[in-house]
Amino acid sequence: MTSASSEPPCSKPVNICCIGAGYVGGPTCAVIAKMCPHARVTVVDLSQERIDAWNSPNLPIYEPGLQEVVEEARGRNLFYTTNVEQAIIDADLIFVSVNTPTKTAGLGAGAAADLRFIERATRTIARVATSSKIVIEKSTG
Ligand SMILES: NC(=O)c1ccc[n+]([C@@H]2O[C@H](COP(=O)([O-])OP(=O)(O)OC[C@H]3O[C@@H](n4cnc5c(N)ncnc54)[C@H](O)[C@@H]3O)[C@@H](O)[C@H]2O)c1
Repeated sequence: MTSASSEPPCSKPVNICCIGAGYVGGPTCAVIAKMCPHARVTVVDLSQERIDAWNSPNLPIYEPGLQEVVEEARGRNLFYTTNVEQAIIDADLIFVSVNTPTKTAGLGAGAAADLRFIERATRTIARVATSSKIVIEKSTG
């Protein structure tokens, strides 16, 4: 009999994609990859510069311990890439954690969130997905 404590926190293989390698998506997915070694976690971004930084020794974001977490999982079950469409196709579960700046014009200017980046990301999912996905909206909406 296997004791529950010997099981990893997540033991079912799952393919996770995170759209947006920013302050939310990058660190969140690094921790998921560390804690769920059976999951394959791919973080995607339109910014080549940001992805290059996640793949380098100089991460684009500083948080205590983040470097160690990324270095443990990167290349094993944590990947950072600009190939957004392929990551969507491969994913079972997709986090959308793109930027939602405050609107500067139109209804709600100065107060409401500009949702254009969420709309673009989710339209991409709808366009390229070839199987059912669980989509988790993690941006401020
Ligand atoms: N940073 C925080 O502490 C914090 C806290 C709470 C909530 N939030 C919310 O979480 C969301 C993300 O915040 P953040 O700070 O990580 O933003 P961020 O600006 O650091 O990162 C967002 C990333 O999404 C990428 N992106 C945008 N559209 C894309 C697309 N279609 N495909 C691929 N990549 C795309 C951008 O290039 C950018 O690198 C926002 O809605 C924000 O309001 C952030």
